[in-house]
Amino acid sequence: MLRDFFIALSQNQFLNQAARKYGLKLGAQSVVAGTNIPEVMKSIKELNAHGISCTVDLLGEFVSKKEEATEAKENILAVIEAIHENKVDAHISLKPTQLGLDIDYQFALENLREILQKASGYNIFVNFDIEDSAHVQPAYDILDDLLREGFDNVGTVVQAYFHRAEEYIQKYKDLRIRIVKGAYKEPAEIAYQDKKDIDANYLKIAEWHLLNGKFTSIATHDHHIINHLKRFVEKHNIPKEKYEFQMLYGFRKDMQLQLAKEGYNFCTYVPFGQDWYGYFMRRLAERPQNLNLVVKQVFNK
Ligand code: FDA
Repeated sequence: MLRDFFIALSQNQFLNQAARKYGLKLGAQSVVAGTNIPEVMKSIKELNAHGISCTVDLLGEFVSKKEEATEAKENILAVIEAIHENKVDAHISLKPTQLGLDIDYQFALENLREILQKASGYNIFVNFDIEDSAHVQPAYDILDDLLREGFDNVGTVVQAYFHRAEEYIQKYKDLRIRIVKGAYKEPAEIAYQDKKDIDANYLKIAEWHLLNGKFTSIATHDHHIINHLKRFVEKHNIPKEKYEFQMLYGFRKDMQLQLAKEGYNFCTYVPFGQDWYGYFMRRLAERPQNLNLVVKQVFNK
């Protein structure tokens, strides 16, 4: 299957390294907002001008060396500083494996604590993105440790494809939660495989969190889900301050602008950095039509 092929490519270390050297290629520039902080700040300002807030993701994941995790931490601290200095409407999204979760739990915890401390000083929110099933529990464990320490500027993701999604959403009801379908290849024992089952679970947990949770980020490009939840919030009089829609940078741009224009809170997930390859391959896996981006780029040279 094409999906499996692109997911396998996304995890190929050799190709990840090669892509790092050669800069944004293959059409990735339409879905990755630059390779450095000035470039990403420019993209954020453009989105802010349309009333769209941003969550910034310094690309990088599955880091296996301490030096790489420390470099990622320093770079994320620099992004936080830039958000503050540029006075942009933006917060941080990060992947716990990028900060060393695969290397050493305590080391990753310290890196994440430092990031939350700095962000907290500027009143900036930090979202822990959630990765494949091997990393879900360790990421939630770190989150729990940091919540116990009293941080209140942190939230996370619940992936609707997991059978345990409902349990997670209930556990984290007092947090700002992003609900997604789930981007990784997971076995049938733990995750729904069919789109209709995933979509049904998505709606179930999204509705529950909208009614009972602190703040819900409805993250999807799926207009069926978006339209359903628009009707749901209206029917239940859920105020706009309690939720937002989120989409990825470069996808369904017209719909992003339209939702913002209709007065909904809208937040664009803005990835940037040299490690664009794994992120880009996962987007191709989700929607092979995104291959159009690649074809256009190759032939427009
Ligand atoms: P899906 O891909 O199922 O598409 C449903 C339908 O929507 C399609 O059939 C088509 O009709 C329409 N559609 C979708 N894309 C379109 C396009 N570009 N143009 C036109 N029509 C389109 N995953 C994860 O595991 N951990 C995480 O932390 C995150 N974080 C995250 C943040 C944000 C802001 C988003 C939007 C997504 C994530 N994801 C994620 C990824 C998520 O799990 C999922 O893989 C993708 O969002 C793809 O699923 P969709 O919900 O967008 O719909």
